[in-house]
Amino acid sequence: MNGFAVFGNIVFSLSPNRTEMLPKHYAVCENGICSGVFPELPAKYAGIRVDDFGDMLIIPGYVDLHTHAAQYRNLGLGMGSRLLDWLEKYTFPEEAAFASEEYASSVYECFAKELRSGFTTRVCILATVHVPATLLLADIMEKTGLRCLAGKVNMDRNCPGFIREEDAAASLRDTEEWLAAQNGRFQNVSPVITPRFVPSCSRELLEGLGKTADLYKLPVQSHLSETRDEVAWVGDLHPEAKCYGEIYDRSGLLGPGSVMAHCVYLTQGDRELIKRSGAFIAHCPTSNSNLQSGVAPVCEYLAEGMNIGLGSDISGGHTLDMADVIREAISASELRAAEDKNARPLSMNEAFYMGTRGGGAFFGKVGAIEAGFEFDAVAAVDGLPPGDATLIERFEKFICSSSGADVRAKYVRGKRLF
Ligand code: GUN
Ligand code: FE
Repeated sequence: MNGFAVFGNIVFSLSPNRTEMLPKHYAVCENGICSGVFPELPAKYAGIRVDDFGDMLIIPGYVDLHTHAAQYRNLGLGMGSRLLDWLEKYTFPEEAAFASEEYASSVYECFAKELRSGFTTRVCILATVHVPATLLLADIMEKTGLRCLAGKVNMDRNCPGFIREEDAAASLRDTEEWLAAQNGRFQNVSPVITPRFVPSCSRELLEGLGKTADLYKLPVQSHLSETRDEVAWVGDLHPEAKCYGEIYDRSGLLGPGSVMAHCVYLTQGDRELIKRSGAFIAHCPTSNSNLQSGVAPVCEYLAEGMNIGLGSDISGGHTLDMADVIREAISASELRAAEDKNARPLSMNEAFYMGTRGGGAFFGKVGAIEAGFEFDAVAAVDGLPPGDATLIERFEKFICSSSGADVRAKYVRGKRLF
């Protein structure tokens, strides 16, 4: 049997409101899949390797549903600007530099190194418009052992000439070239169709990308309703559309394999389209606060049963560490609740759920240490002085104070990375 077990304090999410806490348990992995969690190792597993993490916490690993690898070097720059100015002043010039493979490789290596060492086990990544640099990103991410979706960005309008693709046909041609070059080369990295957002994609490009996604059965990632100014701009560009989401939907870009970042200002029509399509929302609280975008009503989305996870969205967000993003999701919801008597703050269980099982569902049976789930796990110290804290207390402190530096071991689909 190709199996092993991990031993420690196992914590994972059962639902938005329930977190399972199993002190001093064994989680067994066979062929990359969890076959169960037990207080004693069952006799049939006698003799398998046991990785003993003693008193450490073992969680499923965090899922980052939305981030921009090419913005890694801009982390912490331009905070206080708003989205549309920030894109022009900081983001587009930085992304243009990825025309150089040498530059791309140096930035992507640093991005990959940080992600590998922290809590993240799965990640959806936006690259840039450049085909060679996007292939390099896939090469570099493949070596980390993390499972990722990585996409070449498409944009053919309303952006500076130095980053704009010539027209829809050129953008679609490059997308085909990228997909052909990547096809069959990687185990850990798969492609995802990546229209940047409606303002920077012509109707022809969106429709072409919808056909490409359908033809190759590929997932889709983009941005939706991030700021008021952006939503108003989309309204001007598409007066015929009843809501922003409709523009993706009619191009075939909204379905269970789609993840839409932000969703701060969804209309009722958007919400219904997202629910009906089964698309995922990537809530990006660090980015939404840095760019003064707003606070998405995620408690409502959870109550409505929408699919929702978290994204670091660097460099709108200032950190790749999903432990920080989970905390900021809670803080942002607390501030929203302080101002809006109809809102309530997110619980730790809900934030942990979004960072693990909620976002994990985008990758399949991912995000819990439970029989039948892909075996992703991270062992971490919690830095508490010795004492008699219960596992519930330790979990609360962990949510409030952990960082990627606390990670001591990581498994992705049953493979131990370190
Ligand atoms: N909308 C379109 N492009 C971007 C981007 O790079 N970052 C964020 N936060 N929003 C966007
Ligand atoms: Fe983004």
